[in-house]
Amino acid sequence: MNIRQRLSDQFQAAMIAAGIPEDCGPVVAPAKKAGFGDYQANGAMAAAKRMGTNPRELASRILEQLDKGEMIERVEIAGPGFMNIHLSEPWLGRQLAIAKGDKRLNIAPVAEPRTVVIDYSSPNLAKEMHVGHLRTTIIGDALARLLEFQGHTVIRQNHMGDWGTQFGMLLAHLSDKLADSNAEVALADLEVFYREAKVRFDDEEGFADRARDYVVQLQGGDEQCLKLWKQFITVSISHCEDIYSRLNVTLKHRDIYAESEYNDDLPVLVKELLDNGIAVEDQGAIVVFLEEMADKEGNPSPMIIQKKGGGYLYATTDLAAIRYRANQLKADRMLYVVDARQSLHLQQAFTASRKAGFVAESVALEHCTFGTMMGNDGKPFKTRTGGTVKLAALLDEAVERAEKLVAGKNPQLDANTCAEIARKVGIGAVKYADLSKTRTNDYLFNWESMLSFEGNTAPYLQYAYTRVRSIFRKAGIAPSELQGEILLETAEERALGIKLAQFGEVLDQVAKDTFPHVLCTYLYELASTYMRFYEACPVLKEGVGEKHRQSRLQLCALVARTIATGLDLLGIEVMEQM
Ligand code: ARG
Repeated sequence: MNIRQRLSDQFQAAMIAAGIPEDCGPVVAPAKKAGFGDYQANGAMAAAKRMGTNPRELASRILEQLDKGEMIERVEIAGPGFMNIHLSEPWLGRQLAIAKGDKRLNIAPVAEPRTVVIDYSSPNLAKEMHVGHLRTTIIGDALARLLEFQGHTVIRQNHMGDWGTQFGMLLAHLSDKLADSNAEVALADLEVFYREAKVRFDDEEGFADRARDYVVQLQGGDEQCLKLWKQFITVSISHCEDIYSRLNVTLKHRDIYAESEYNDDLPVLVKELLDNGIAVEDQGAIVVFLEEMADKEGNPSPMIIQKKGGGYLYATTDLAAIRYRANQLKADRMLYVVDARQSLHLQQAFTASRKAGFVAESVALEHCTFGTMMGNDGKPFKTRTGGTVKLAALLDEAVERAEKLVAGKNPQLDANTCAEIARKVGIGAVKYADLSKTRTNDYLFNWESMLSFEGNTAPYLQYAYTRVRSIFRKAGIAPSELQGEILLETAEERALGIKLAQFGEVLDQVAKDTFPHVLCTYLYELASTYMRFYEACPVLKEGVGEKHRQSRLQLCALVARTIATGLDLLGIEVMEQM
């Protein structure tokens, strides 16, 4: 359920009935401060300005037309023309009771499901996954889970970089190594392997020529060479899949649709763009000039799609990918969860695809950008010696640190349980620290703050969950056994009830704007609202009547499920104790 949307619709209808132009919106939002109602509709002010009338008077005309239904108890006009909306308590209680009995928490699937293609993770396979791949993988996966929960058809596309000139040097090196080892062993450490190949490429007489030969053979479809390449790719992909499973990321083997898949289409695509005049030859290269993205002087933005020597580029592959996603995958919406530094590249690809007619205007092309992960020194996150941090090492450290923390907090835990909790806490902390920040900004990677049990962190939410669950163990009652009305009599119960009922509208907002931190902020506020409720409203204490006990336990049950569902949509696990 989306209360905000329902209120918007009702206020919009009232405004139209009051003779206000249709394009004046009701501007409904949850109230920011206590004492101003539960929601506010602020549209009267702008409408009055447009119509040249008094905003308070206009607000009262709107309220005369408003159908309050069962949802709204009363509306007050405040200040220059704010309309403060108080929801009906029995109505809210009934909504929560429905949510309690519903496995989707009273959140209906969207009425019009769309096919959403999400391009995320997409590492280059020449090297092992490093911290630079973390954000796209985590953010993309959260969006995929959330849109899927909403009922959209989500098609994950792992656009792995498995092609390009650097593979020449890697294959030349691999073929030498295979003389006395197998691929698995030779490629056990891809980072070392890459470095060795690069040193030989730079220093060893004749090696660079051999590498270039390999590229030509690979592109020419030479069977021996393809076999070698396949071996390399297979090992590299299995490294990635280890990381995905450790990260609790939903990417599967079938989601890989790598750059090489588009090889055969590239000459076709370039020819087509030349034939229809979208691309032209310029100093031997084939270029699309985009007037749509011209600079201040009016020079069109050039996008090279074939190099002078005949080679294709990253951009050419992306054009082919967009066309494939539109035509074959039938995407209504494409999300690219890619580093902000690739903004120009993607804007060019989007603009050129529209121009070439690869995607209809109705199909949304969205670059979900993100900033860089920074170390405590305010510079991009590196190892102490300045190297790139491997993702595998980072996750090891996260779990190790969490293990110390969990064992310190709860020394009675047996080793296996402790290890399992530490895994969920450590991985959860890394993911949540990323997801809870506005993705477009750079963010500071800090072990202490992400593993803290206080503040907007994964451990705080996981701990809140275990606390609610322990109430049920103490009470010796299962949530399914609870019955009776949900009462929202005190301010704390009411605040908690409203927060719980807002889960659906938060998901709608994240689905629309693709900012997962909005869900994190919501979960954090929910847990904090719960803590205040728990302090103010006794649940199991003696003297609490059965009716109130049942009602409050139902609120507790909803809190636990909402936190668990919300964290699950972020790809973070919960546990019964910690
Ligand atoms: N492989 C690229 C990189 O590691 C990211 C690919 C993003 N997706 C895309 N369709 N261009 O930088």
